[in-house]
Amino acid sequence: MPASCQGRNVTTATQTLELRETPAIRGLPYLGSALGMAKDPAQFFVQCYRKYGPVVRLSMLGKPYVLIAGVEAATFMGTREGKDCLRSKEFWSGLVAEYGATRTLTGEDGETHKQLRDVMRSGYSKESIKGRYNEIVDITDRSFERDWPIGSMVPVVQAMQYMVTDQLGTILTGAAPLEYVQDIRITILHILNVLVTRQRPKFLLKRPVYKKAKARVVELGEQMIKDARARYDKTAPEDRNLIDDIMAAHIEHPDVMPASDLIVSLTGPYVAGLDTVANTTAAITYTVLKHPDVLRRVHEEVDALFADGTIEEADLLKRIPSLQGAIMETMRLYPIAVAQMRTATRDFVFEGHQIREGEMLYVGTSVPHFMSEYWPHPEKFDIDRYAKPRAEHLKPGVYSPFGRGPHTCLGKSLAEVQIALTMARLFYKLDLELETPDYTLKTKTAPTPGPAMDFKVRVKGLRH
Ligand code: HEM
Repeated sequence: MPASCQGRNVTTATQTLELRETPAIRGLPYLGSALGMAKDPAQFFVQCYRKYGPVVRLSMLGKPYVLIAGVEAATFMGTREGKDCLRSKEFWSGLVAEYGATRTLTGEDGETHKQLRDVMRSGYSKESIKGRYNEIVDITDRSFERDWPIGSMVPVVQAMQYMVTDQLGTILTGAAPLEYVQDIRITILHILNVLVTRQRPKFLLKRPVYKKAKARVVELGEQMIKDARARYDKTAPEDRNLIDDIMAAHIEHPDVMPASDLIVSLTGPYVAGLDTVANTTAAITYTVLKHPDVLRRVHEEVDALFADGTIEEADLLKRIPSLQGAIMETMRLYPIAVAQMRTATRDFVFEGHQIREGEMLYVGTSVPHFMSEYWPHPEKFDIDRYAKPRAEHLKPGVYSPFGRGPHTCLGKSLAEVQIALTMARLFYKLDLELETPDYTLKTKTAPTPGPAMDFKVRVKGLRH
């Protein structure tokens, strides 16, 4: 049912107003629903939807929120009304202030958001890795040699974080700042937990470990500014990477990209890509190893993919349908963005419920991922759901791993290739096994949901 700012149940002055009463969750004093959320946010939102419907009020650490969820909410995000009624600004304002910036891509809305997306679209696009798939494979192999020694138990999320930083740094920014990975990680963890998702108290930002890490990220940003400035008039527009585009915008349109916003924009790829891709690739490592039939199919595909020694770029994803099915299925069951956080820009009615201007919302776009109405046996890891004629993900609003609406992941097509190449190479090169065959994945929720940091796999040997 389409929602609207006017709302189908909000009527003209001569008609009666028929609004539904919005249910409210009675949580613990101050904590509210924080414990349920901290345990398993995806399942918490599904349970809320099942029990209360598409709109429910809740509180978290003393703050009130409205949860809107389900296909209704996912679809709403992409409508004109959704764009008009929801904004991202407040959720990113803490990060913006922490960097002394005026704005970020993620926290802008409307025209200025569009301007920033235009500046960064090409740099974040799949085009930026065109012709460079073999380079990504080399970076990936290098990381196996460094972080995945034969015979060892490898902490997967951490090893993936190093690999992803190496890949994104090289491809998007021209340099792989491996010596800064821990600093980037600590900084992002604190900022996302405390200032964006607000799951942790503010005093954590006073910890010396955070202050030191953030100072190092600023140092990295300043170095990137210096390098990009030096490249500016030597690089042809068609050869520019993301960093060059951001610097060009700063020099040519300082109103769009003022000096104060450079560091947060230049280190943006790490904020956007590090935890998202590392958590997702770690989860895929688990799901594929957990299902030997899937692993066998993936092995057949990747052995054929790399049989010639180099990789053919055209239609990569189509040539590895089982692996691609495993990736999509993992992103359904282990979404890193369980909900998007927004503020109501004005009063509006959603599914018959009054939402007031200024209210903070969780938009539970991943709720449909777990619903049997759209996915037969949703708990089952079934990599063939995505192939035609089933194509279960194509029903409107049911599958949103990359978000919905104007802030939909700008790096989506890049991330898809990055993840596919990483996983293809991992299963091609390494002979891996879970700690025990009946091992069940433990997960973490902060700052981004994903496998727990102590998830390890054993490297039995090299396959190739
Ligand atoms: C598993 C991989 C990834 C997933 C699941 C993912 C998911 C998401 C989601 C859900 C959002 C929307 C957040 C919101 O609406 O508040 C988003 C935004 C964004 N993502 Fe990704 N992402 C991934 C990887 C990447 C990568 C590798 C990059 C680029 C390096 C990237 C760049 C961005 C950017 C720039 C935005 C902000 C877009 C905007 O605000 O207009 N993402 N991503």
